[in-house]
Amino acid sequence: MKDFVTIRDFTREDILHLINQAIGRKNNHIVQPANQKKIASLFFENSTRTRVSSETAAINLGFEIIGFSGSEGTSVKKGEPLLDTAKMFQGYGVKALIIRHSLAGSARFLGDNLDIPVINAGDGSNCHPTQAMLDLMTIYEKFHTLDGLKIALVGDLKYGRTVHSLLQALELFDTQVTLVSPPTLGMSSWRVEQYEEHCGRTVKFAKTLKEIIPTQDVIYMTRIQRERFPSGAEGEIEYKKIGGKFLLEKNMLRKCLPSLAILHPLPRDKNNIEVHPDVDSTPYASYFIQAENGLYMREAILQALIKRELKGRKTNSSPKEKLFKKMKVIDGKKMGEKLVYRLDTGILIDHLAAGSAIRIHSLLKLDQIRDKEIVICSNIRSNKLGRKDVLAIHDSKLTPQELYKISLVSPNHTINYIEQRQVVKKGKTYLPTILKGHLICQNERCISRKYHLEYCKETFIVESQQPLKVHCHYCELLMTGDEIEIDS
Ligand code: CP
Repeated sequence: MKDFVTIRDFTREDILHLINQAIGRKNNHIVQPANQKKIASLFFENSTRTRVSSETAAINLGFEIIGFSGSEGTSVKKGEPLLDTAKMFQGYGVKALIIRHSLAGSARFLGDNLDIPVINAGDGSNCHPTQAMLDLMTIYEKFHTLDGLKIALVGDLKYGRTVHSLLQALELFDTQVTLVSPPTLGMSSWRVEQYEEHCGRTVKFAKTLKEIIPTQDVIYMTRIQRERFPSGAEGEIEYKKIGGKFLLEKNMLRKCLPSLAILHPLPRDKNNIEVHPDVDSTPYASYFIQAENGLYMREAILQALIKRELKGRKTNSSPKEKLFKKMKVIDGKKMGEKLVYRLDTGILIDHLAAGSAIRIHSLLKLDQIRDKEIVICSNIRSNKLGRKDVLAIHDSKLTPQELYKISLVSPNHTINYIEQRQVVKKGKTYLPTILKGHLICQNERCISRKYHLEYCKETFIVESQQPLKVHCHYCELLMTGDEIEIDS
């Protein structure tokens, strides 16, 4: 792996390797100077721990830091696109780039477009993978394992990026996860679904902190991410409603397990404190050790990336993907239903979901074709489907891009290629695993949304063709066939 963008890129072995490296560094103060090479540290959003520990880690490894903390005073204020800014730093010879940015998918976008390693120091409310790694290190140091533990994630699970990355990591270990949050700040259902699908275990839900305290090995508290709420009165009212509901105090810990570890990525919010300072002096408070571990873990991550030590999870995509599966042509004479105009030459798209042909007609912009016959048959009887649509286009071919659009609307269709009143080829189109364009990510804070003006081409990973499930390559949002928006 070149980049450290999301936990979902890494294996259990990669994670344990980094934890062991980081613990080794902590115990032995290993420092291997890199002869004054440079690292770029680009923090577009506020940070204390991640920036300072990442920069200290880089300095300890012998790097110099160039970059900025906050975009004030940079050409970002003149409207410079993110990739241009990052390319400048690559051009100045940095060996790696650390980025924190408010748009989800920003680190992935840079990783795809730069040759140097990119480390995600938090991309909007999407993820914070280096934080998850130091969280795991802290748990591992305490319990000497990451398996067999009961771990509760508490607080703002909707906007809190640290818990998103931690949940992705916990997929790889045998843990019982419980989610505790205000109803409006629950973990997105797609994140829960992905966790359960990937590891085959279900998560538990609880309404109050009190009810889970006696059973948990780890309680991971989080701050309400006020800055990511809707702006204006709506956000203010929402925030006030939540205030104080998930406060952990010392007197609540009387019945906890003796080995309980309380974690918090920090900072705490003094306006709406989540862990009362009276917990700090208890043996359960692990959050200051956790913050300190950030230094060693970030040294380990930077070193591992520069040495290209991390293997990464395998992706399913292969250049030899079969995107058109041929079917047998029996006698070549079946050129459309009796209701359909019989083509001399052209394409007949059969077995479309009932009601889908008009949508496909519009998506393929067939209404702009003036010189060819196009026949739409809607809701006709079908032995296979009960009801179906059929679309016939005279004297035409479809591009792969157009075929993908048909697959997105109606994945179960059949294409018949007709020449001189004979079906010469028949088959089904499948979506490629990596789908560039065609869809619009439904996350308004995703870097691929056009109005952010970052010129990031929408890219999706097709997880399943039927039922259709895709996730955004950048912000990781999972979308089903009902949730997708096709880019017309
Ligand atoms: N935990 C964390 O990301 O802290 P900072 O925002 O201070 O970097």
